[in-house]
Amino acid sequence: MTVQQLETTVAPRHVAIIMDGNGRWAQGRGLPRLAGHHAGTGNIKRIVREAIALGIPYLTIYAFSTENWKRPSWEVRGLMRIMAEYLDRELRELHAEGVRLHLLGTLDGVDSALAKKIQNAITLTANNTALTLSVAFNYGGRADIVNAVREIVAKGINPEDISDEMIAGHLYTSGIPDPDLIVRTSGEQRLSNFLIWQAAYSEYYMTPLLWPDFGPDQFREAVSNFGNRERRYGGRIGEGEMVK
Ligand code: IPE
Ligand code: IPE
Ligand code: MG
Repeated sequence: MTVQQLETTVAPRHVAIIMDGNGRWAQGRGLPRLAGHHAGTGNIKRIVREAIALGIPYLTIYAFSTENWKRPSWEVRGLMRIMAEYLDRELRELHAEGVRLHLLGTLDGVDSALAKKIQNAITLTANNTALTLSVAFNYGGRADIVNAVREIVAKGINPEDISDEMIAGHLYTSGIPDPDLIVRTSGEQRLSNFLIWQAAYSEYYMTPLLWPDFGPDQFREAVSNFGNRERRYGGRIGEGEMVK
């Protein structure tokens, strides 16, 4: 195990958000659930801008889980349509702002027109450097690990050569630092199969606000709250040094 540096009052390098509560937001307004998903996707831009303004290089958003396929087909279809419309509407601006899009998950089972839009967006933004926006779409933490194990086994790697780093290098997040801070809106206190490997030492910030109501000020508040956390990684604070 490598020794990690203690961080006390630092900005997170990677913030990951479980964007939850769109349905309840709509219900509270007497609107259909899809109106909530529409409002939720509309909120992404504000948070991306705030992350760039705060100098956070990696932002990850949980958009659709492997379990979300269990929802009624009208809702799944609606979510896919909203995702496609979102790319049509917002991609140009995201690109202009220097956002590099990255997919966590697979496009297996995703409608081919939408899959093509997503692939095009990734290719278009591949060289951008302001912020890496990873979109967990058709993503599950367990599926992520299963996929990594399959790749490792397919390469015929010796069991004794398997390490933390090797597994991490086969996850969808390969090359992206582990999330420092995981934010979940809507008051739920669970991971729901999000980044279960990567979140081993993440800090958590749960807020009762519903995702469409979680704006830049609230994001800033979450980041500032993170700055006061003391991360120990199982060690303890020494005299300016991490004790193993
Ligand atoms: C989050 O909002 C978006 C997705 C899971 C796709 P929900 O649809 O889960 O909203 P609630 O939790 O029902 O309010
Ligand atoms: C998690 O939210 C998935 C996304 C935000 C995309 P859910 O609403 O699906 O999670 P559960 O069902 O409440 O655990
Ligand atoms: Mg939910």
